[in-house]
Amino acid sequence: KPEKPTNNTTKQSSWVSPDWLTSLAQSLSIGKDDSNIPIANAKLEDVSELLGGALFLPLFKWMQEYGPIYRLAAGPRNFVVVSDPAIAKHVLRNYGKYAKGLVAEVSEFLFGSGFAIAEGQLWTVRRRAVVPSLHKTYLSVIVDRVFCKCAERLVEKLKTNALNGSAVNMEENFSQLTLDVIGLALFNYNFDSLTTDSPVIDAVYTALKEAEARSTDLLPYWKINALCKIIPRQIKAEKAVTLIRKTVEELINKCKEIVESEGERIDEEEYVNETDPSILRFLLASREEVSSIQLRDDLLSMFVAGHETTGSVLTWTAYLLSKDPSSLSKAQEEVDRVLQGRSPTYEDIKNLKFLTRCINESLRLYPHPPVLLRRAQVADVLPGNYKVNPGQDIMISVYNIHHSPQVWDRAEVFVPERFDLDGPMPNETNTDFRFIPFSGGPRKCIGDQFALLEAIVALAIFVQHMDFELLPDQNISMTTGATIHTENGLYMKVSQRQTNSAFAASSSSSR
Ligand code: HEM
Repeated sequence: KPEKPTNNTTKQSSWVSPDWLTSLAQSLSIGKDDSNIPIANAKLEDVSELLGGALFLPLFKWMQEYGPIYRLAAGPRNFVVVSDPAIAKHVLRNYGKYAKGLVAEVSEFLFGSGFAIAEGQLWTVRRRAVVPSLHKTYLSVIVDRVFCKCAERLVEKLKTNALNGSAVNMEENFSQLTLDVIGLALFNYNFDSLTTDSPVIDAVYTALKEAEARSTDLLPYWKINALCKIIPRQIKAEKAVTLIRKTVEELINKCKEIVESEGERIDEEEYVNETDPSILRFLLASREEVSSIQLRDDLLSMFVAGHETTGSVLTWTAYLLSKDPSSLSKAQEEVDRVLQGRSPTYEDIKNLKFLTRCINESLRLYPHPPVLLRRAQVADVLPGNYKVNPGQDIMISVYNIHHSPQVWDRAEVFVPERFDLDGPMPNETNTDFRFIPFSGGPRKCIGDQFALLEAIVALAIFVQHMDFELLPDQNISMTTGATIHTENGLYMKVSQRQTNSAFAASSSSSR
């Protein structure tokens, strides 16, 4: 019988030697300090989980042992891990005292000076310039022209799988769907990733994987420029970023030429260009003084922030529904009743109440990203009288807050109805930071409305046309980077629903 490998014999990548792991584990049990924050005494096996694994899972285990705030010393880094809504609220709302810190370090190679990681005046100015592009009229146009169209294309593709009985990796399909959506919504550019392979798509995945890997690399060797030129992973990432930037620059230049030749200028609130409703077009027509590089980096920020996140929401919602047939039937009955076989309009969405709660509840159980990072800029005292020093890295574990039995009844159970069906959309304000899937405070997600609408439309069209069940004997385990995703995909057997023969007619005639 082969012996189970121990941590000492497990093969690690070259820079993570067993000795290094042991010393790292020892450094986790450092002495007491005067901050009142308990120190997590992590075990060796927990530490190896931190390396490239699902970081948020050991954080949850330690919350059960040490409570809603503890200190985790991980080699050269030292984090205060927060799992308490009041402390999270304090940190997220006091943006002047807490900057993005490590997040900016691991993703600067991709975002450049983009406002998702910028600080200070640059962030203020650019966020103010971009937010107006996501106005209500834009969202209603995009629901029809982008969200519905892309979801209908996904359903068409799945019908082929249904006919030939092949298993489908729904995680991959949802990721392709959301890439197509964000390409069209931001740049009016069709990646068409549901049906084609392209070097840009590969480059996007490579860059996202690199950002993910950097967020869990405990040794940030990529900060050394010379190493980036010789290490294959870094060479690949650099090539990918160059290609993505070039593609976005070309799209900006093309759009700029059109806007200038037409002398286009925004002349009304909630402006949308009829032929090209994209955010890029809005930003160029608004004639803000901004360099092409800044504009490129801001668009890239939105592109990356808006792609895999929504894809992951759809993946986990489909997973949860496949495990809960009565919720799935309830969602399908609602979709059939409200939509009568057609695709949703912007106005329909408020009536898809139960389906929306399924997405809210999926965001509670699987928040993306599961952990938010901040760095203290000044000395501060957190609620509960916990002291932090300037430079202190803080991890707000959204996953822990959302899964804590102190915060939620039946925290581990999927209960869409826990959010009142007729109540407002749950958010950080009306739950007092118990539910923070889009963060809170000044750096809250700017795409929350966009993402919710996109997820509702895609899920509505998916459940309207397809029945689905998990392929048996799959081990659906979680891993992380910027989002929670599965380790090996989410394979499902799909079949076409019999109830809506109206689809073919409605999808070809109504658009
Ligand atoms: C920021 C979540 C979709 C654009 C954030 C943050 C979270 C988040 C938690 C704050 C991070 C922090 O506080 O450190 C999500 C989730 C999404 C989603 C769960 C999907 C369900 C989108 C979409 C867009 C977008 C579709 C763009 C259209 C951004 C941007 C920021 C951001 C630009 C940075 C804002 C700033 O720093 O000022 N997102 N997001 N997100 N999100 Fe989203």
